[in-house]
Amino acid sequence: MIVRTRKDLRAAVEVARQKGKKIGFVPTMGALHDGHISLVEKAGDKSDYVVASIFVNPAQFAPGEDLDRYPRNEQGDVARLSAAGCSLVYCPSVGEMYPEGSLTNVRVEEMSDLLDGIYRPHFFYGVATVVARLFIHVGPDVAVFGEKDYQQLQIIKRMVRDLGFPIEIIGGKTWRDGDGLAQSSRNAYLSEEERQRASAIFSALHRAASRLRIGVPVEEAIKEARGFILGAGFSKLDYVSAVDPATLHDLGDGPLEEGQGCRLLAAAWMGSTRLIDNLGV
Ligand code: PAF
Repeated sequence: MIVRTRKDLRAAVEVARQKGKKIGFVPTMGALHDGHISLVEKAGDKSDYVVASIFVNPAQFAPGEDLDRYPRNEQGDVARLSAAGCSLVYCPSVGEMYPEGSLTNVRVEEMSDLLDGIYRPHFFYGVATVVARLFIHVGPDVAVFGEKDYQQLQIIKRMVRDLGFPIEIIGGKTWRDGDGLAQSSRNAYLSEEERQRASAIFSALHRAASRLRIGVPVEEAIKEARGFILGAGFSKLDYVSAVDPATLHDLGDGPLEEGQGCRLLAAAWMGSTRLIDNLGV
Protein backbone atom coordinates (compact mmCIF):
# COMPACT_ATOMS: atom_id res chain seq x y z
CA MET A 1 0.00 0.00 0.00
CA ILE A 2 1.22 3.52 -0.84
CA VAL A 3 0.55 6.59 1.29
CA ARG A 4 1.60 10.10 0.39
CA THR A 5 0.66 12.18 3.44
CA ARG A 6 1.73 12.15 7.09
CA LYS A 7 -1.93 11.82 8.04
CA ASP A 8 -2.50 8.62 6.05
CA LEU A 9 0.90 7.26 7.12
CA ARG A 10 0.14 7.79 10.81
CA ALA A 11 -3.31 6.25 10.50
CA ALA A 12 -1.88 3.08 8.91
CA VAL A 13 1.04 2.79 11.35
CA GLU A 14 -1.32 3.37 14.27
CA VAL A 15 -3.49 0.42 13.21
CA ALA A 16 -0.37 -1.80 13.11
CA ARG A 17 0.71 -0.53 16.54
CA GLN A 18 -2.70 -1.22 18.02
CA LYS A 19 -2.23 -4.82 16.91
CA GLY A 20 0.99 -4.89 18.94
CA LYS A 21 3.28 -4.80 15.91
CA LYS A 22 6.86 -3.56 16.10
CA ILE A 23 7.51 -0.98 13.36
CA GLY A 24 10.58 -1.21 11.13
CA PHE A 25 11.65 1.53 8.71
CA VAL A 26 13.90 1.75 5.65
CA PRO A 27 14.31 5.23 4.14
CA THR A 28 15.29 5.32 0.46
CA MET A 29 15.48 7.69 -2.47
CA GLY A 30 14.07 5.00 -4.77
CA ALA A 31 15.85 3.53 -7.84
CA LEU A 32 16.10 0.42 -5.73
CA HIS A 33 18.71 -2.30 -6.16
CA ASP A 34 19.33 -5.59 -4.34
CA GLY A 35 21.12 -3.76 -1.52
CA HIS A 36 17.96 -1.79 -0.68
CA ILE A 37 15.90 -4.97 -0.79
CA SER A 38 18.28 -6.64 1.66
CA LEU A 39 17.70 -3.69 4.05
CA VAL A 40 13.95 -4.25 3.81
CA GLU A 41 14.45 -7.95 4.54
CA LYS A 42 16.64 -7.09 7.51
CA ALA A 43 13.98 -4.69 8.80
CA GLY A 44 11.50 -7.57 8.39
CA ASP A 45 13.69 -9.79 10.59
CA LYS A 46 13.74 -7.13 13.31
CA SER A 47 10.11 -5.97 13.20
CA ASP A 48 6.58 -7.04 12.27
CA TYR A 49 5.51 -4.16 10.04
CA VAL A 50 7.99 -2.61 7.62
CA VAL A 51 7.55 0.90 6.25
CA ALA A 52 9.85 2.07 3.43
CA SER A 53 9.95 5.63 2.17
CA ILE A 54 10.76 6.81 -1.33
CA PHE A 55 11.73 10.48 -1.39
CA VAL A 56 14.42 12.14 -3.49
CA ASN A 57 15.45 14.74 -0.94
CA PRO A 58 16.32 18.09 -2.57
CA ALA A 59 18.04 19.26 0.63
CA GLN A 60 20.92 16.80 0.15
CA PHE A 61 21.75 17.91 -3.40
CA ALA A 62 23.76 21.07 -4.09
CA PRO A 63 22.94 23.22 -7.13
CA GLY A 64 24.57 21.55 -10.13
CA GLU A 65 24.42 18.04 -8.61
CA ASP A 66 22.26 15.27 -10.06
CA LEU A 67 18.87 16.03 -8.43
CA ASP A 68 17.11 16.37 -11.80
CA ARG A 69 18.64 13.28 -13.40
CA TYR A 70 18.51 11.09 -10.26
CA PRO A 71 16.83 7.85 -11.47
CA ARG A 72 13.15 7.60 -10.55
CA ASN A 73 10.90 4.55 -10.95
CA GLU A 74 8.17 4.66 -8.32
CA GLN A 75 5.97 1.93 -9.79
CA GLY A 76 8.82 -0.56 -10.17
CA ASP A 77 10.20 0.30 -6.72
CA VAL A 78 6.84 -0.19 -5.01
CA ALA A 79 6.43 -3.59 -6.68
CA ARG A 80 9.90 -4.67 -5.49
CA LEU A 81 9.23 -3.41 -1.96
CA SER A 82 5.92 -5.28 -1.73
CA ALA A 83 7.56 -8.47 -3.00
CA ALA A 84 10.25 -8.08 -0.32
CA GLY A 85 7.62 -8.01 2.44
CA CYS A 86 7.25 -4.27 2.94
CA SER A 87 3.83 -3.45 4.44
CA LEU A 88 3.61 0.25 3.58
CA VAL A 89 5.43 2.62 1.22
CA TYR A 90 5.54 6.31 2.11
CA CYS A 91 6.00 8.52 -0.98
CA PRO A 92 5.67 12.09 0.30
CA SER A 93 5.81 15.19 -1.89
CA VAL A 94 8.42 17.91 -1.29
CA GLY A 95 5.66 20.03 0.31
CA GLU A 96 4.76 17.20 2.70
CA MET A 97 8.38 16.88 3.87
CA TYR A 98 9.16 20.60 3.83
CA PRO A 99 5.96 22.54 4.53
CA GLU A 100 6.10 26.03 3.01
CA GLY A 101 8.16 28.41 5.07
CA SER A 102 9.96 25.54 6.81
CA LEU A 103 12.86 26.90 8.90
CA THR A 104 13.94 23.90 10.98
CA ASN A 105 17.02 21.88 10.11
CA VAL A 106 19.14 19.29 11.92
CA ARG A 107 22.92 19.61 11.96
CA VAL A 108 25.15 16.89 13.33
CA GLU A 109 28.23 19.08 13.67
CA GLU A 110 31.84 17.94 13.09
CA MET A 111 31.04 14.45 11.78
CA SER A 112 29.19 16.07 8.86
CA ASP A 113 32.19 18.19 7.92
CA LEU A 114 34.68 15.33 7.48
CA LEU A 115 35.36 13.04 4.50
CA ASP A 116 32.39 13.40 2.13
CA GLY A 117 31.33 16.52 4.03
CA ILE A 118 34.44 18.32 2.75
CA TYR A 119 33.40 17.75 -0.86
CA ARG A 120 29.62 17.98 -0.34
CA PRO A 121 29.29 20.51 2.52
CA HIS A 122 25.47 20.61 2.40
CA PHE A 123 25.01 16.84 2.13
CA PHE A 124 24.84 15.42 5.67
CA TYR A 125 22.86 18.41 6.92
CA GLY A 126 20.25 17.65 4.28
CA VAL A 127 20.33 13.94 5.18
CA ALA A 128 20.02 14.52 8.96
CA THR A 129 17.18 16.98 8.41
CA VAL A 130 15.14 14.67 6.19
CA VAL A 131 15.82 11.55 8.27
CA ALA A 132 14.77 13.36 11.47
CA ARG A 133 11.56 14.44 9.74
CA LEU A 134 10.93 10.93 8.39
CA PHE A 135 11.51 9.45 11.85
CA ILE A 136 8.92 11.84 13.28
CA HIS A 137 6.45 11.04 10.50
CA VAL A 138 6.86 7.24 10.67
CA GLY A 139 7.64 6.76 14.38
CA PRO A 140 9.51 3.45 13.92
CA ASP A 141 11.02 1.22 16.61
CA VAL A 142 13.95 0.20 14.39
CA ALA A 143 15.43 1.70 11.23
CA VAL A 144 17.90 0.10 8.83
CA PHE A 145 20.56 2.01 6.85
CA GLY A 146 23.12 0.56 4.45
CA GLU A 147 26.78 0.37 5.44
CA LYS A 148 27.57 1.42 1.88
CA ASP A 149 26.93 4.98 3.13
CA TYR A 150 29.09 4.44 6.18
CA GLN A 151 29.52 8.07 7.19
CA GLN A 152 25.77 8.61 6.87
CA LEU A 153 25.10 5.59 9.11
CA GLN A 154 27.42 6.91 11.84
CA ILE A 155 25.89 10.40 11.63
CA ILE A 156 22.36 9.02 11.94
CA LYS A 157 23.42 6.94 14.96
CA ARG A 158 24.86 10.07 16.53
CA MET A 159 21.74 12.12 15.78
CA VAL A 160 19.51 9.45 17.33
CA ARG A 161 21.73 9.36 20.42
CA ASP A 162 21.93 13.14 20.75
CA LEU A 163 18.23 13.89 20.16
CA GLY A 164 16.99 10.86 22.07
CA PHE A 165 14.92 9.31 19.29
CA PRO A 166 13.61 6.00 20.72
CA ILE A 167 14.76 4.15 17.61
CA GLU A 168 17.29 1.34 17.23
CA ILE A 169 19.55 1.99 14.24
CA ILE A 170 20.83 -1.09 12.42
CA GLY A 171 23.46 -1.23 9.65
CA GLY A 172 22.87 -3.49 6.65
CA LYS A 173 25.82 -4.94 4.77
CA THR A 174 26.94 -3.55 1.42
CA TRP A 175 25.78 -5.53 -1.61
CA ARG A 176 28.43 -6.01 -4.24
CA ASP A 177 28.43 -7.19 -7.83
CA GLY A 178 30.62 -10.19 -8.67
CA ASP A 179 33.69 -8.00 -9.28
CA GLY A 180 33.25 -6.21 -5.94
CA LEU A 181 31.61 -2.95 -7.09
CA ALA A 182 29.21 -1.80 -4.37
CA GLN A 183 25.63 -1.62 -5.62
CA SER A 184 24.44 1.97 -5.89
CA SER A 185 21.62 3.72 -7.72
CA ARG A 186 24.26 5.96 -9.29
CA ASN A 187 25.98 2.97 -10.98
CA ALA A 188 23.26 3.42 -13.61
CA TYR A 189 25.16 6.53 -14.83
CA LEU A 190 28.27 4.49 -15.77
CA SER A 191 28.94 3.57 -19.40
CA GLU A 192 29.77 -0.10 -20.02
CA GLU A 193 33.43 0.71 -20.24
CA GLU A 194 33.39 2.84 -17.05
CA ARG A 195 31.48 0.12 -15.25
CA GLN A 196 34.28 -2.36 -16.03
CA ARG A 197 36.90 -0.12 -14.46
CA ALA A 198 34.76 1.04 -11.51
CA SER A 199 35.40 -1.98 -9.28
CA ALA A 200 39.00 -0.78 -8.83
CA ILE A 201 37.79 1.40 -5.94
CA PHE A 202 36.82 -1.76 -4.03
CA SER A 203 39.97 -3.65 -5.06
CA ALA A 204 42.07 -0.74 -3.77
CA LEU A 205 40.32 -0.75 -0.38
CA HIS A 206 40.50 -4.52 -0.15
CA ARG A 207 44.22 -4.46 -0.85
CA ALA A 208 44.82 -1.60 1.60
CA ALA A 209 42.95 -3.52 4.32
CA SER A 210 45.19 -6.56 3.76
CA ARG A 211 48.29 -4.36 3.86
CA LEU A 212 47.19 -2.72 7.12
CA ARG A 213 46.50 -6.13 8.65
CA ILE A 214 50.12 -7.18 8.09
CA GLY A 215 51.45 -4.02 9.73
CA VAL A 216 52.07 -1.68 6.78
CA PRO A 217 51.87 1.94 8.05
CA VAL A 218 48.60 3.76 7.34
CA GLU A 219 50.13 6.43 5.09
CA GLU A 220 51.88 3.87 2.90
CA ALA A 221 48.76 1.72 2.49
CA ILE A 222 46.69 4.81 1.64
CA LYS A 223 49.29 6.04 -0.87
CA GLU A 224 49.22 2.67 -2.62
CA ALA A 225 45.40 2.70 -2.71
CA ARG A 226 45.37 6.20 -4.20
CA GLY A 227 47.83 5.11 -6.91
CA PHE A 228 45.77 2.01 -7.66
CA ILE A 229 42.50 3.96 -8.06
CA LEU A 230 44.02 6.66 -10.29
CA GLY A 231 45.93 4.04 -12.29
CA ALA A 232 42.67 2.17 -12.96
CA GLY A 233 41.20 5.12 -14.85
CA PHE A 234 39.32 7.10 -12.21
CA SER A 235 39.53 10.71 -13.38
CA LYS A 236 39.67 12.31 -9.93
CA LEU A 237 40.12 11.08 -6.39
CA ASP A 238 38.42 13.02 -3.60
CA TYR A 239 39.86 10.96 -0.74
CA VAL A 240 41.02 7.62 0.58
CA SER A 241 41.12 7.71 4.39
CA ALA A 242 41.66 5.36 7.30
CA VAL A 243 39.45 6.50 10.19
CA ASP A 244 38.16 5.50 13.59
CA PRO A 245 34.97 3.49 12.85
CA ALA A 246 32.78 5.46 15.30
CA THR A 247 34.16 9.02 15.39
CA LEU A 248 35.38 9.05 11.76
CA HIS A 249 38.53 10.84 12.88
CA ASP A 250 41.67 10.22 10.86
CA LEU A 251 43.91 7.57 12.39
CA GLY A 252 47.18 9.30 11.56
CA ASP A 253 50.29 7.47 10.40
CA GLY A 254 51.99 4.32 11.65
CA PRO A 255 50.93 0.69 11.73
CA LEU A 256 47.57 -0.19 13.33
CA GLU A 257 47.81 -1.20 16.94
CA GLU A 258 46.63 -4.63 18.11
CA GLY A 259 42.79 -4.53 18.26
CA GLN A 260 42.57 -0.96 16.92
CA GLY A 261 39.38 -0.32 14.92
CA CYS A 262 39.83 1.05 11.42
CA ARG A 263 37.47 1.84 8.56
CA LEU A 264 38.74 2.67 5.10
CA LEU A 265 36.64 5.09 3.07
CA ALA A 266 37.10 6.37 -0.48
CA ALA A 267 35.36 8.66 -2.97
CA ALA A 268 36.45 8.95 -6.59
CA TRP A 269 35.12 10.08 -9.94
CA MET A 270 34.68 7.74 -12.88
CA GLY A 271 34.03 10.30 -15.63
CA SER A 272 31.10 12.39 -14.38
CA THR A 273 29.97 9.79 -11.81
CA ARG A 274 31.10 10.07 -8.21
CA LEU A 275 31.44 6.69 -6.47
CA ILE A 276 31.99 6.04 -2.77
CA ASP A 277 32.93 2.84 -0.98
CA ASN A 278 34.24 1.68 2.40
CA LEU A 279 35.56 -1.40 4.14
CA GLY A 280 36.27 -2.46 7.71
CA VAL A 281 39.82 -3.58 8.50
O1 PAF B 1 20.82 6.85 1.70
C1 PAF B 1 19.87 7.43 1.13
O2 PAF B 1 19.28 6.93 0.16
C2 PAF B 1 19.46 8.81 1.60
O3 PAF B 1 20.55 9.57 2.00
C3 PAF B 1 18.38 8.77 2.70
C4 PAF B 1 18.88 8.11 3.96
C5 PAF B 1 17.15 8.03 2.19
C6 PAF B 1 17.95 10.20 3.06
O4 PAF B 1 17.43 10.88 1.97
